[in-house]
Amino acid sequence: MSPLLWTEEALLVATNGQLHGKIEPLSGVSIDTRTLEKGDLFVALEGESRDGHDFVRMAFEKGAGAALISHRRAAEFSDAGPVLAVPDVLDGLRHIGMAARARSSAKIVAVTGSVGKTSTKEALRTVLSEQAVTHASVASYNNHFGVPLTLARMPESARYGVFEIGMNHAGEIEPLTRMVKPHVALITTVEAVHLEFFSSIAAIADAKAEIFAGLLPQGVAVLNRDNPYFERLEASAQASPAGKASPAGKASPAGQIIGFGAHEKAEIRLLDLKLLPDGSDVVVDYFGRRLSYRIQSPGRHIALNSLGILGVAGALGADVDRVAAGLAHVRPPEGRGARLELGEAGHAITLLDESYNANPAAVRAALSILSATPVGAGGRRIAVLGDMRELGEQSAALHAGLAPDVVANGVDVVLACGPFMKALWDDIPPALRGAYAPDSATLEAALLDTVRPGDAVMIKGSFGSRMGLLVAALKGRFAKGNA
Ligand SMILES: Nc1ncnc2c1ncn2[C@@H]1O[C@H](COP(=O)(O)OP(=O)(O)OP(=O)(O)O)[C@@H](O)[C@H]1O
Ligand SMILES: [Mg+2]
Repeated sequence: MSPLLWTEEALLVATNGQLHGKIEPLSGVSIDTRTLEKGDLFVALEGESRDGHDFVRMAFEKGAGAALISHRRAAEFSDAGPVLAVPDVLDGLRHIGMAARARSSAKIVAVTGSVGKTSTKEALRTVLSEQAVTHASVASYNNHFGVPLTLARMPESARYGVFEIGMNHAGEIEPLTRMVKPHVALITTVEAVHLEFFSSIAAIADAKAEIFAGLLPQGVAVLNRDNPYFERLEASAQASPAGKASPAGKASPAGQIIGFGAHEKAEIRLLDLKLLPDGSDVVVDYFGRRLSYRIQSPGRHIALNSLGILGVAGALGADVDRVAAGLAHVRPPEGRGARLELGEAGHAITLLDESYNANPAAVRAALSILSATPVGAGGRRIAVLGDMRELGEQSAALHAGLAPDVVANGVDVVLACGPFMKALWDDIPPALRGAYAPDSATLEAALLDTVRPGDAVMIKGSFGSRMGLLVAALKGRFAKGNA
């Protein structure tokens, strides 16, 4: 049984709710009956398409210890199990989250950025867990309910807390970071993502900079020194409450701004990088000290993310040498660069599963990984690309703009799908055109027809483009012994 997380009394103090029944100590917090565990508090969130109240009875059947529900529905569930009724369930969850934050003595980092949040958060979870009890967000739970939920799940025993904070629109990060109150804020990078909702990339940078609003006084900002928006972010960090505590944000034990990257002024500077098919050897100048380590995910972008991880870990007070060594234990999360060998050894197909999401920066990074992936005798490098979503008016131009990268990275065959990828398809040399289809399901037959032993295949697209279907199809067709 998991250790105690919430008592009846603590929940009453946090939510000021109305109790019906008696709540025994709870060991977890859940918003989804599919993953609910015995002894959890079930939070009946009202989403756009589903209302959690429709699942309260099922939650009790699965062993929920209590449910957080709306006042309006309290009478309906009086016989179902112990319930705590509040005027607004999401607000109740926020209050539980804030109570968890208030009682915690963990050192906390908030991770945001246009790409690399989850990869970085998961790497931090792995390396920090090797040193002390670490609590981190599940998956990409980085929004208006994911962040309070992650806070509400934080045990008192946590020594480190790692929170992913995301946004699609300006103004979304600020209330979340004010709840999380991080000691350290990391912005992985600023790129053309969610452009549909922003007038410019500078406006995206400003929305990311909202993360500093919650940074504790004397807190540390860890920023990508190579990004064109570094100075803009630095100015925001200096103007934040944390920056004011230490004027000009000069390097000092507190109120510090740390830059990471290849830039000569970076405090954590890339000295040498050896890109290997399945990882990288990295040499870094860490505040004047040389560190060498191995990472197990390929790509320059992932290597650069690791410099940010060192910056965060050091700022949280962890042993940086152990963190550098621990990076060798980090595996890429599913759909974000996982590398699989399918079929028979000797003439296998290498599959790079990048199906989780896509934007111009991430597709460029994935193409460079494909280019560094070895192929077997007669094998080809095949890029399977689905739409990058939420790019707004510039969408067609941003898709077509990948054509030079496709060529420069030595891609032999392009399989494309989706209305936006048509713009890229039209712009690549005809010799590279394998097949185009309006959607991923329709592309499946051509994919299975095209791929043969020895090939390296990289599959990437926004989550909504459903490129995962193609990953599954290829795995099914070329499962070991099936080739
Ligand atoms: N610094 C980077 N530059 C470019 N691409 C990156 C970088 N870091 C990670 N990526 C790529 O971006 C994709 C998304 O990674 P990840 O899931 O970590 O991002 P995220 O910011 O959590 O995304 P989301 O907004 O969907 O939560 C992956 O394909 C990953 O390889
Ligand atoms: Mg994420």
